[in-house]
Amino acid sequence: MSTFKSIAVAGAQSAIGKAIVLTLAATPGVSVLVLTRATTARPEYLPENVAHAGIDYADVDATAAILSEHSVQVVISSVNSVAILGQISLADAAKAAGVKLFVPSEYGCISKGLPEVPSFLQVKIQVADHLQSIGLPSMRVFPGIFQEYLELVVGFGTNKKVNILSSVKGDTPFSTTSMDDVGGFVAHVVTHHPLSALADKAVRIEGERRVTLNELGAVLGAPVEKVDVIPAPEGVSGMFFLDQLQTLVEKGYLNTETKLVDGDGSGGANGLWEGHRWTTLKETLKL
Ligand SMILES: NC(=O)c1ccc[n+]([C@@H]2O[C@H](COP(=O)([O-])OP(=O)(O)OC[C@H]3O[C@@H](n4cnc5c(N)ncnc54)[C@H](OP(=O)(O)O)[C@@H]3O)[C@@H](O)[C@H]2O)c1
Repeated sequence: MSTFKSIAVAGAQSAIGKAIVLTLAATPGVSVLVLTRATTARPEYLPENVAHAGIDYADVDATAAILSEHSVQVVISSVNSVAILGQISLADAAKAAGVKLFVPSEYGCISKGLPEVPSFLQVKIQVADHLQSIGLPSMRVFPGIFQEYLELVVGFGTNKKVNILSSVKGDTPFSTTSMDDVGGFVAHVVTHHPLSALADKAVRIEGERRVTLNELGAVLGAPVEKVDVIPAPEGVSGMFFLDQLQTLVEKGYLNTETKLVDGDGSGGANGLWEGHRWTTLKETLKL
């Protein structure tokens, strides 16, 4: 079985990016190249055995030359939500350099086969469509909600309550996964499974057997309150997506079971990380 040995990671300073890089760097026989924006210095946390290159995302030829120089076989991206569309030129560079697999920055709600697309997911779908159109195989990873973000999703930090939208019943189970497990999973599968097992797969994982929004009351030891808008932390704007997110949770788009179309990853893929003990929600929340 031939597995990948040379991997580039963009967005390596996100929490999952760090977990991906550190796991890859500790994997024998694997070489790792971290791509940052040209304006970003080499991240201080990088182990010595990890190479670094600053790139202009828009310069496809120059990025392709760097990827070729390092014989990169897989590009993994964990860039943040404002940088999603920059992955289109990164994908073009990867294709030109002969990269075999591209893992785009997804890591949330499933984005394959949705009957209606919330605004914050549109750019991720644009990237997925682009990868398909240029014939670069991709793997899209959907871990539900990061366990570290769960309190934010119900506005718990704002008023110590589990705030659930009035329009949402709150009884649909959803998946949660710790950020270290998301990163560890991505690093593990690209170094332990062949391209045929990963190419053009939608992969749903979960660290914890599913929980519901209503059950979070018991988990956090807090009252559940129905609200018209999820309260955002003071001074933080752009939190409208929390309302969209709860609505998507209600529809079952953040669990491993809800089937929308063939090949949407329903059924789950935890088994690809053989023998791993996944971190539970209570462990992450230190409850
Ligand atoms: N499921 C969930 O609960 C959940 C929660 C949060 C996030 N997410 C998802 O996880 C992924 C990472 O998000 P995050 O919020 O954790 O990321 P983050 O920490 O804000 O990401 C930082 C990384 O993004 C890169 N970046 C920032 N602006 C950029 C730009 N204009 N062009 C290129 N790169 C840029 C930085 O690159 P440099 O290294 O060059 O500085 C850095 O490495 C996203 O897909 C996000 O939607 C999921």
